[in-house]
Amino acid sequence: MVGLPARGKTHIARRLARYLSWLGYTTRVFNVGNYRRARLGSQKDHHFFDPNNAEASAARAEVAQIALDDMIAWFVDDGEVGIYDATNSTRERRKQVADRCRQAGHQVVFVESLCEDEEVIESNIRQTKLHMPDYANADPERAVADFRQRIANYARVYEPVDASEGSFVKLIDVGGRLEAHRIQGYLPSRLVYFLMNLHPIPRPIYLTRHGESLFNVEGRIGGDSLLSPRGEAFAARLSGYIAKEISEREISVFTSTLRRTIETARPLVRPTLEWRALDEIDSGDCDGMTYEEIRRHLPTEYEARETDKFDYRYPRGESYRDVIRRLEPVIVEIERERTPILVVAHQAVLRALYAYLMDRPPHECPRIDVPLHTVIKLTPTTYACAEERVHLGPMATALSRP
Ligand code: SIN
Repeated sequence: MVGLPARGKTHIARRLARYLSWLGYTTRVFNVGNYRRARLGSQKDHHFFDPNNAEASAARAEVAQIALDDMIAWFVDDGEVGIYDATNSTRERRKQVADRCRQAGHQVVFVESLCEDEEVIESNIRQTKLHMPDYANADPERAVADFRQRIANYARVYEPVDASEGSFVKLIDVGGRLEAHRIQGYLPSRLVYFLMNLHPIPRPIYLTRHGESLFNVEGRIGGDSLLSPRGEAFAARLSGYIAKEISEREISVFTSTLRRTIETARPLVRPTLEWRALDEIDSGDCDGMTYEEIRRHLPTEYEARETDKFDYRYPRGESYRDVIRRLEPVIVEIERERTPILVVAHQAVLRALYAYLMDRPPHECPRIDVPLHTVIKLTPTTYACAEERVHLGPMATALSRP
C-alpha cells in the first residue's frame, strides 16, 4: 500500500485481504502502524512523524523493517499474498520494500490511494483515526489537529508512485478514477477488477433464504419446488419488513433462477435480478433425495460428506469450494452496488456470501447457521460488518438439516 495517512489504505488492505482469503489465497495484512504501537507505544504525537526528527525516523524505519521481515518469513511458511500496509511515501522506501520482496522471489504491485478531497479526509480522520489507541482519551479537536500535522509531516516528503517503479494501481479520489500500470497475470488482474468496484459507502446488505419450499417440508435437497403455505406467509412478511426498512428508497434485489427464491421475492414488487450464480449447491446425483435416502442408498457418499463437508463434491454436482468460485461475480456486484441489497437465495450459497461479508475462513462455511424465515442484516462499518438477525416466522416445518 502507498498513500498519505487518512487515505483509506487500511480499509482497502482489509477488503482486499477478505476477498483474496475468500477466494482461497492465504492472505495477511502487515500493518506497520500496529507494529509501531506494539513496539514503541501508541501515544506518539505529530513530532514523532517529523522527517527531520532523526531519532524517531530511525525508530520508525526499524519497525517498518521488522514488519517487512515478518512478511518475508511468512511467505516462506505458507503465505501467498502479503499486504504491506504502510505509507511507503518515498521512492527510496518503496525501492527497499520492492527489492527485498523481489529478491525473495515475490511479485510486487503497489496500490496507491490518492485523495485531495478535504471532506473525505476529514471524515476519515473522525471515523477511524480518533478511535485509534494513539488518541485514547484525547480531546477530539486536539486529536484531529495533531493528526492533520502528522499528515503534513508525511506530505512534505511524499512522492507518488511513478512508472519506473513497476506494476501499480492508483485509486484516485476514492475510486472516482483508477490508473493501472503494467498489471500482468491472473491475480494482479483480479485485484484491479476488484479495486475498480470498491467504494466506502456503507449500506445494508440483507441475506435471506427463500420461504419454506415443498421440498423443505419433505426434507428433500435440490429440486425446483414451489413454496409451501408457510413459505408464502414468509414471503409476505419479508415484503412488509423490507418496506419498513427501505421505505421509498431504492434496493437491489437479487434472487437465484430457482422458483422458490423468485416466488419469495415476488411480493416485494421491486425489480429483481435473477442470478444463476446464486442457485443452490448442485447436489448432482443426490438431487431430490432426503439425507436419509442418501445414507441408505449411497453410504460412501454420505460418509465422505460427513468427513469433509467443505471439499466434498456431490457426484456430478458441486462442493462448497465450487460454490465460492462461482459466486465471485456476485461478490464484485455486491461491492459495486451503492444502494441497499437484498439477496434471496439458498442455504449453501448464503453461507458462502456470509463468510465473505463477515470475513470468516471459507472452510467454516458449512457450519454457518442460516435458518429459514430469518433475515440477516449486515451493515458494513469501517473495517467489518455489524450483524442483526430478524426471525420473521412463521416457524418452518423444514426437516432439512445443516
Ligand atoms: C504508523 O506508524 O502509524 C504508520 C507508519 C507508516 O506507515 O509510515
